[in-house]
Amino acid sequence: MKSIEGLIRKRQSTRKFSDKPIAKEHILKCIEAARLAPSSSNAQPWKFIVVDTAEKRARIAKYTYEKIGFFNKFTSRAQCFVVITLEKQKLITRLGKRIKGIDWELIDIGIAAQHLCLQAEELGIGSCMIGWYSEKPVKELLQIPHNKKVALIIALGYPVEGYKIRKKIRKPLKEVLNYNTY
Ligand SMILES: Cc1cc2nc3c(=O)[nH]c(=O)nc-3n(C[C@H](O)[C@H](O)[C@H](O)COP(=O)(O)O)c2cc1C
Repeated sequence: MKSIEGLIRKRQSTRKFSDKPIAKEHILKCIEAARLAPSSSNAQPWKFIVVDTAEKRARIAKYTYEKIGFFNKFTSRAQCFVVITLEKQKLITRLGKRIKGIDWELIDIGIAAQHLCLQAEELGIGSCMIGWYSEKPVKELLQIPHNKKVALIIALGYPVEGYKIRKKIRKPLKEVLNYNTY
């Protein structure tokens, strides 16, 4: 088992996938990691739709770049997608959103997505969270009910050989960290 620090440093958005298929049990491990994520009031406002057939993968890939430009073209090499839908929220979460102005359910989705990506990393599987996609055709293809929202798509696949770990471009610590006052 790799250390959490090692996984965090190694995980990056993978945008060059090899043709190597991902074993079903490894995908399941990633979903399990997401399923175990914490959520506001333990609402678990998600469903994970694994898209692993060649035909549907190609369609999902297309919906991440078609109309959006060449931005997400790399997804056509992904070996699997996990489409995360936003499910019914608890009353307390909806109230929180109204009173506090914070989307707790989207925080929940983000945490689950990161669990999934870190688990993938531990298995040597590359991931890229995809926020740009045409939602309507994705919903039609996967028969997602009209009243549900696609919150995020995660593209998965083994990185091509020699894929480099990039230097992380992040704001410096002193810009984001304060003690005891803003
Ligand atoms: C919610 C979310 C949506 C994202 N959507 C896309 C996307 O549509 N296409 C893409 O190539 N990267 C996408 N990314 C990846 C970010 O660009 C990337 O995480 C960021 O630049 C930091 O780089 P790193 O993941 O390699 O550390 C997304 C990331 C998040 C968290």
